[in-house]
Amino acid sequence: MLLASVIRDACRVLFRRRPPGRPVLPPASGGVPNFFAPVFWFTADNKAVEEAIESIAPMLAPGCHFADNLLTWARNLSMLGDAAFVAAWKANVESEGDHAIVWRRYVLACAAYHCVHLDGDFVECGAYTGVGMKTVIDYLGGTAFPKAFWGYDAFEHDATMLNHPMPGLGPGLYERVSRKFGAYPQVRLLKGVIPQVFDRGCPERIAYLHIDLNQAPAEVATLDRLFDRMVPGGVLILDDYEWSGYYRPQKLAEDPWFAARNYRVMPLPTGQGLVIKR
Ligand SMILES: C[S@@+](CC[C@H](N)C(=O)[O-])C[C@H]1O[C@@H](n2cnc3c(N)ncnc32)[C@H](O)[C@@H]1O
Repeated sequence: MLLASVIRDACRVLFRRRPPGRPVLPPASGGVPNFFAPVFWFTADNKAVEEAIESIAPMLAPGCHFADNLLTWARNLSMLGDAAFVAAWKANVESEGDHAIVWRRYVLACAAYHCVHLDGDFVECGAYTGVGMKTVIDYLGGTAFPKAFWGYDAFEHDATMLNHPMPGLGPGLYERVSRKFGAYPQVRLLKGVIPQVFDRGCPERIAYLHIDLNQAPAEVATLDRLFDRMVPGGVLILDDYEWSGYYRPQKLAEDPWFAARNYRVMPLPTGQGLVIKR
């Protein structure tokens, strides 16, 4: 079983079709007034919070965003004025959560826009349903996306895992996500536990690295294995770095890891963290 999976992964790497080299680049964004998606986490009463925000919304200047625990106003909301992004985001949304985290998705899309010009592959650790990966790929040309994109995930959950369970993790998910990328020869999905799964295939040079594992030890293990493979100018996004509470152990583990290498994570209001590789 293990041997078959090693051979299958090796064949994927050796015989992959090389995508065309030129990136498809969307035009600059316009920006539109408001985004309200009342999906949020860590409140005592979601409904009461939603109603309270609705009651103050008329007092706020346009450019109001309330979703994903982020209330702000007088912003350009550039993501909603970027037609290529909106098309990619909407085409891939599978859940209310996917819809609500539009700003996080646009951070990924803009990082990808930068990284597509660099030497090196794209990597997502914590591929889950593939929505994040595919939004980025579809934003930058879809089937013409010019990079290899590696997606790692256990695609299953059991009580020994430190991350919290997500809907749909379990038998059949890997197959479903593989089918989703059937027309994308650039995508290599590896099913297995991080970091051990890296032994079955791992790019030598990485331009874009998105780590989204919802747990500190596996994220730090990923940094141990992959950060040195990132090319200068490559972008790392840590999905949960700036979230407190349940997710705070990630920041607490990652800050000293980066400090030891003279890096500091840029905390983003979306809850993500961003690092540019030197
Ligand atoms: C929040 S989800 C990722 C969401 C996805 N990045 C997106 O943008 O839609 C976290 C994923 O990390 C995976 N995961 C957590 N720890 C892992 C580990 N040690 N090895 C492999 N996968 C892991 C889970 O199976 C889950 O699918």
